[in-house]
Amino acid sequence: MASKGIRDRVAIVGMGCTPFGEHWDKGAADLLIDAASECYRSAQVDPAAVDAYWLGTMGSGLSGLTLSEPLRIQYKPVTHVENFCATGSEALRNACYAVASGAYDLAMAIGVEKLKDSGYSGLVVSGPAGDGTDSTMTAPATFSLLAPAYAKKYGLDEATLKDVLARIAYKNHYNGARNPKAQFRKEVPLEAIKASPKVAGCLGIMDCSGVSDGSAAAIVCRAEDAHRYTDQPIFVKALSFIAGPAEGPMRQEYDFTSFAEVVASAEDAYKQAGVTDPRHEISMAEVHDCFTPTELVLMEDLGFSPRGEAWKDVVEGRFDLKGPQPVNPDGGLKSFGHPIGASGLRMMYEMWLQLRGEAGPRQIDHPKLGLTHNLGGAPGRCVSFVSIVGK
Ligand code: COA
Repeated sequence: MASKGIRDRVAIVGMGCTPFGEHWDKGAADLLIDAASECYRSAQVDPAAVDAYWLGTMGSGLSGLTLSEPLRIQYKPVTHVENFCATGSEALRNACYAVASGAYDLAMAIGVEKLKDSGYSGLVVSGPAGDGTDSTMTAPATFSLLAPAYAKKYGLDEATLKDVLARIAYKNHYNGARNPKAQFRKEVPLEAIKASPKVAGCLGIMDCSGVSDGSAAAIVCRAEDAHRYTDQPIFVKALSFIAGPAEGPMRQEYDFTSFAEVVASAEDAYKQAGVTDPRHEISMAEVHDCFTPTELVLMEDLGFSPRGEAWKDVVEGRFDLKGPQPVNPDGGLKSFGHPIGASGLRMMYEMWLQLRGEAGPRQIDHPKLGLTHNLGGAPGRCVSFVSIVGK
């Protein structure tokens, strides 16, 4: 695959992120204004200096007008992108390529979703009508299939599986409790997680990400210009986006213990960034923990744990805030909910804070390389994004 990447050619020089949660008193336009305003301030640029915009939203607006109207953008390109739950990351990827190409000097990637008062929930299936053969399972149901499949393949009994999944939720809520921008900001005891009401298969409410509203934004420029805007830019080492053939659910061999799209996007990103040993070279990661078994499987697909061993790493605290390879230090989707267009940029916002030493009580010691992973779709039928950033 000729994915050459843009290693160290683009820098992020400003970011903004609204608190995620139930914003009954704000529309998507208000959230976009809040995230963009913080982002302009962070990069110390006048809005007029930004040459082009990429807006990610799945259902909170159509066309570039969704952004140009609230921001009063004066006759500039605004591109609306959508790529399922990886929509925010897709906006960032396109903005980065635009400045790398030389077409623009400064670009903004911004994502938003207003879910709470749209009636959206993981238990409501929506999507274009097909020929009647598509799965009509809800998101919690499709992702719940990962848990018994993993347990069967690697010999975990029911109690151990429950402990492992609860440990993931516990960790992410622990981290979210230390984040003023998270939707859920309370630690949740392990026993309460295990006793939470069932949603699908063996997954309880506490195995699920929540439903929230939010927006996040980044301003990017070519690396050589970065210090004009900030003395602490972060540099893009890799951006990979993969869409799979969506044949998993139709193939007898697909066993629901891996996402081939994630493996492919991780391999591509590592190649672009020159990473050969992700378990030891990636200091921290924000991953798509839409459900606890997703995070478990991702640890192996991203190469952080050997196959069949992620569950031991989880129990031993490898991915804890103070562990050797923190995962979801900001609290993840579990604590932030998942306003679809915003999540990928929210993940990058944590990398921005961590690499600049601005993550407060969540600060990780001397991070070098950070990874964000954003997934859209379902096991066997998804799109996957992986980025790697560093100082
Ligand atoms: N994690 C932690 N707490 C949660 C939660 C979650 N996922 N979902 C809801 N809560 C809390 C709420 O804050 C509320 O607490 P409170 O009573 O102290 O205020 C309580 O649980 C009930 O909230 P409510 O909104 O009535 O829950 P619900 O039953 O309507 O929703 C789910 C629960 C699991 C259905 C919902 O969170 C959901 O759909 N999650 C999955 C989203 C999804 O599939 N996204 C796509 C990913 S690919």
